[in-house]
Amino acid sequence: MLISLKEALAYGEENGYGIAAVNTPTFEMLTAAISVAERFDIPMILAHAEVHDPVNSVESIGAAMVALATRSSAKFVVHIDHGENIEFIKRGFEVGFNSAMFDGSRLPYEENVRITKEAVALAKEHGAHIEAELGVMPGREDGKDSSEGVGDRTLYTDPALAADFVEKTGVDALACSFGTVHGLYKAEPKLDYDLIVQLREATGVPIVMHGGSGLSHEEYRECITRGVQKINYYTYADKAALQGSQAFLASNPETYVMAPVTVAAREAVEQDLAQLVTCLYQKA
Ligand code: 13P
Repeated sequence: MLISLKEALAYGEENGYGIAAVNTPTFEMLTAAISVAERFDIPMILAHAEVHDPVNSVESIGAAMVALATRSSAKFVVHIDHGENIEFIKRGFEVGFNSAMFDGSRLPYEENVRITKEAVALAKEHGAHIEAELGVMPGREDGKDSSEGVGDRTLYTDPALAADFVEKTGVDALACSFGTVHGLYKAEPKLDYDLIVQLREATGVPIVMHGGSGLSHEEYRECITRGVQKINYYTYADKAALQGSQAFLASNPETYVMAPVTVAAREAVEQDLAQLVTCLYQKA
């Protein structure tokens, strides 16, 4: 069934859980995420990023996300991730998504405020909620090797600016930069836990971790304790899918069709996500 972003994050806060937001650009990722949420009976956020639209469009994989989430016994938010254009967010809402992230983090501050406000107004028309981003997360945003940005404090979110941003825009959650990077970690992440506390206190809204795959269980738990309530997770799950496929092909060299490879990919993602949620959904 569908629940709202606000409901999912409130449930996380009450229980001391981090809510997993899993990008599901392929059917294998999607069915794996749903089966893990059902098996553990936990609320989860299914996310579709604008950058993944060429893989499968919001009208195809997105429609499947909405349909499967709606009829599942588990609770789901269906969320547009890193929408950089209002038009893309609109397409998501038209398909039935009930939450979206507008990402104006690369825009000048006033421009980010202005378009985020538009996204909030659009979401209200659809009974949906909005996450936005302030601060720069290396990896996806700048197109560079993410390890180059690890520990670069000039990219971290400023709490005073974050407070101003949330007040002006009325967003429901804020993606902040405090030491994670998108993609593969080639250098140790340098997480600023005190900054998470400051950001949570200054803004009064749940803090979202992007670049959430690839951290240790201790790092996830510490971030959740300090105020992170939504953990965006993609790269390491999709990497597991690839490795599961490669292992299947190595042990079944005679395979000449694709379907069993996709089953191996799905099972590998299920294993990866099962480990993740065992950590994120621990009572504080
Ligand atoms: P990773 O791909 O680094 O896990 O980040 C996912 C993310 O932040 C999606 O918005």
